Amino acid sequence: MSTAEIEAGSLAELAQAEAACTRCPLYLHATQVVPGEGHRQARMMVVGEQPGDKEDLAGRPFVGPAGQLFDQILAEAGIPRGQVFVTNAVKHFKFAPRGKRRLHRRPNAGEIDRCKWWLGQELKLVAPAVLVAMGATAVRSLLGRPATISSLRGEIRRLEGGMPMIVTIHPSWLLRIRDAAERETGRRRFRADLKRGWGLV
Ligand code: URA
Repeated sequence: MSTAEIEAGSLAELAQAEAACTRCPLYLHATQVVPGEGHRQARMMVVGEQPGDKEDLAGRPFVGPAGQLFDQILAEAGIPRGQVFVTNAVKHFKFAPRGKRRLHRRPNAGEIDRCKWWLGQELKLVAPAVLVAMGATAVRSLLGRPATISSLRGEIRRLEGGMPMIVTIHPSWLLRIRDAAERETGRRRFRADLKRGWGLV
């Protein structure tokens, strides 16, 4: 068993083990691993896709533009940030270099599946009352199969073991909507999804 396969007894131990992860090749180019963040007793766990450029540099999840938007909408929904554990399906930033920029690349199924080991350990340690899967990568990881957001949104799903899960869009999708009215509709729906999840806590 390698260091990266030891079952962690605390979030700090888990972060240490994650830092040594070589389960897929993404560690080779990322600056560092980005573990989940939040209180061990958080009632809600929110799962995104993977760290972005800002998160990769900071070593913390959801600190870039999508994270800032997420924080705003969470506050609008009246959900205390301290009660939310935020994490990603994939813990290293996947990108393609383009000049001085690093362009986000979607993790593939193999990378998602290899990284699920860490998400599983976060789930065991935090044992939230509810999960929110934001976007297709989070859904792929949590369900272990591909599925569209539109086919799962609006219902309460249960993972093996019975943990309730709400499926919603990823906030980076809202950042890409150009039309103001459409963006507002998307934002309202996302906020309602988060509230729905919080209602299950
Ligand atoms: N997008 C994600 O899915 N996760 C982050 O941490 C940042 C952006």
